[in-house]
Amino acid sequence: MQSQARSAPSPLQGPSKQKKNIDATFDRMPLDGRPSSRRPRMAGKGAALMELIRTENEALLTHRYFDLCRSGALDRGQALEIVKQLFCFSVCFERLLTLRIARHSAWMDPRTLRVAREHLREELGHVDMFRKCLRENGVSSEELARLSPKMFTTALFGYLLATVLHETDLVANVAMISVMERIGVHFFRATSVMLKRHDMQTDAVDQHAEEDEGHATMGLELLTSLERRTLMDCRRVITDLYRLMGHVLDEWLTPERQSNERLAAA
Ligand SMILES: [Fe+2]
Repeated sequence: MQSQARSAPSPLQGPSKQKKNIDATFDRMPLDGRPSSRRPRMAGKGAALMELIRTENEALLTHRYFDLCRSGALDRGQALEIVKQLFCFSVCFERLLTLRIARHSAWMDPRTLRVAREHLREELGHVDMFRKCLRENGVSSEELARLSPKMFTTALFGYLLATVLHETDLVANVAMISVMERIGVHFFRATSVMLKRHDMQTDAVDQHAEEDEGHATMGLELLTSLERRTLMDCRRVITDLYRLMGHVLDEWLTPERQSNERLAAA
């Protein structure tokens, strides 16, 4: 790993402070999805799932990616490669958002359709924001057209695709929103700090960091009455996605040539 560490203190909050902020948001979150100190907190199975996401998220924040962002050890080339993968994943995520709505049937819970539509409205335009971010950070339109997701970026897309297609719409909601958006809050905050160290354009990342905190709580009201089977499926998908995200970050930190050599040796 190349190192261009700076001695200046990082403006990025450590994991414990980040967790406190977002967890405070979740703690205030009642079952109707709107924060209010006068409403009861989530209880029962929904609360157990939120606790699982909290602990999995805490573990993910110990990934070296967050340390490298804080310490400034990633060089500009590595930073740009990460934004390229973000662009690729944003294309995949947009397809998943529309697919959730396209596959919705009359027998499904109309509340999940409402949440999915709201989520799509919030996320539309993010692909263009990442494209603009890459162009303003020096990536040519020709290179943009040649970009492709790395293996684990595609694997994450594939896992979410299988979840949207083959799990219940409630499980898909937990995957697409409760997990992915919560990861997004921390990931985009850390990435923004890292990009700013290189004086890179960060509008797309900053907007995501701000918006994902609100996105992460969308649809929590759906977790009021969970059947045992749904609860087990949600737990499985939550732990799988966090494990997969660790592999995604590992690969995003791996230089392209080394990544290809590993594939050739496999
Ligand atoms: Fe989001």
